[in-house]
Amino acid sequence: MRELSERIRRREARCGVIGLGYVGLPLALEFARAGFHVTGIDVDGAKIDAINGGRSYVVDLEDREITEQVDAGRLTATSDFAVIRSLDTINICVPTPLRKTKDPDLTFIVAAVEEIRKYLRPGQLVILESTTYPGTTEEVVLPALEATGLKAGQDFCLAFSPERIDPGNPHFSTRNIPKVVGGMTSRCTQVATALYEQCIERVIPVSSTRVAEMVKLLENTFRSVNIGLVNEVALMCNALRIDVWEVIEAAKTKPFGFMPFYPGPGLGGHCIPIDPFYLSWKAKMNGFEPRFIELAGHINESMPRFVVEKITEALNCQCKSVRGARIHVLGVAYKAGVNDVRESPALNVIKILCDKGALLSYSDPYVPAIREDWLWLDALPLTNGYLGSVDCVVVLTDHREFDYAHIAATAPLVVDTRNALRGQEGAHIVRL
Ligand SMILES: NC(=O)c1ccc[n+]([C@@H]2O[C@H](COP(=O)([O-])OP(=O)(O)OC[C@H]3O[C@@H](n4cnc5c(N)ncnc54)[C@H](O)[C@@H]3O)[C@@H](O)[C@H]2O)c1
Repeated sequence: MRELSERIRRREARCGVIGLGYVGLPLALEFARAGFHVTGIDVDGAKIDAINGGRSYVVDLEDREITEQVDAGRLTATSDFAVIRSLDTINICVPTPLRKTKDPDLTFIVAAVEEIRKYLRPGQLVILESTTYPGTTEEVVLPALEATGLKAGQDFCLAFSPERIDPGNPHFSTRNIPKVVGGMTSRCTQVATALYEQCIERVIPVSSTRVAEMVKLLENTFRSVNIGLVNEVALMCNALRIDVWEVIEAAKTKPFGFMPFYPGPGLGGHCIPIDPFYLSWKAKMNGFEPRFIELAGHINESMPRFVVEKITEALNCQCKSVRGARIHVLGVAYKAGVNDVRESPALNVIKILCDKGALLSYSDPYVPAIREDWLWLDALPLTNGYLGSVDCVVVLTDHREFDYAHIAATAPLVVDTRNALRGQEGAHIVRL
């Protein structure tokens, strides 16, 4: 393992990243920029072709950033897992979804680890980055890899390092987000830390893989619970006829002990709505009933229905029903500035409205089409006059590209779930 540390420090180690999505591709690029030869591995042939052709499919990465590394011979992508044998380090960045029952679905991790197992050799470093419950590295990855007869900490290194990337964030990217690392043994932690130190500004070693796994779940549970709290406050303020947005703006002037979170149509993305349930599942398996996670989940999941209630009331005030109403949705991505619709609450709002007989259309500069099995819809460009022709405009994602003054001026009715029209007043503007 000493030899691997040396190869890492000299940046001669050959790095591999399995799973080239929102997490894996930026990580692969950081390794390549640091001078490593990087091989990305993915089961999705379209992504392989895109990378090798110098095309980005991740919102924060420009084609040029990929082309630079591909042309320099530092980045290549393949679907052939046999390349693992030639790699020194392997980072696993595959999805970790939930089953319908809200149990963890480790299928992707298990499949990736099975491929690594086939080609594992002494002197390699394997790091799991996918968000998962505490114990996964030790209970699922370790036994699979040690079934080869090789021993972690002795023949190969194994670690967990949670990914904290925030797609669409202009200030923080893989390079300047501090990286937490916990190894199966202290040797594993040292080698994994050495790898990240080559390309990430700050690395924080912790005592075990379990701690590193739990760090990520604390962070995401913190967000889910605080968003659940502020969503409940929004429901309360609605009942009390108080403007929740004004309350938050004033509360956040407190210079200590308060951090603003904002209400909205619900939680979306691949992390916050999902990860806390990984923790909840594991806690229950150990006889502990986690109350905050479940409660926040209930409140956050109830928000799309509340938004539909607001739309129904607003239309009712104009003597219109949801059935037959032309409703135009602004923004379907799960948050502003990204093209990701996974778990997006906008889809839930749209589904409920469709079921009630509304006639839906939408615009989103980042999402040209919705392709769900229950809905195929293409985004409409916001041409002059269109918003004036519908019954209701609903702001579900506050992309910067929308002209909110124009929307306020032309739409007959706006239901704004993000306070995107702050500063605009009128009886036709209804806020969450
Ligand atoms: N997206 C985020 O903002 C974010 C942030 C922090 C952590 N995470 C976590 O990182 C992990 C990856 O998330 P993501 O958003 O990058 O997912 P993603 O869906 O964008 O990318 C995952 C990639 O893995 C590939 N893949 C699936 N199974 C594979 C296999 N067996 N072998 C090789 N490739 C395989 C998929 O084709 C896909 O390209 C998840 O655990 C997620 O919770 C995501």
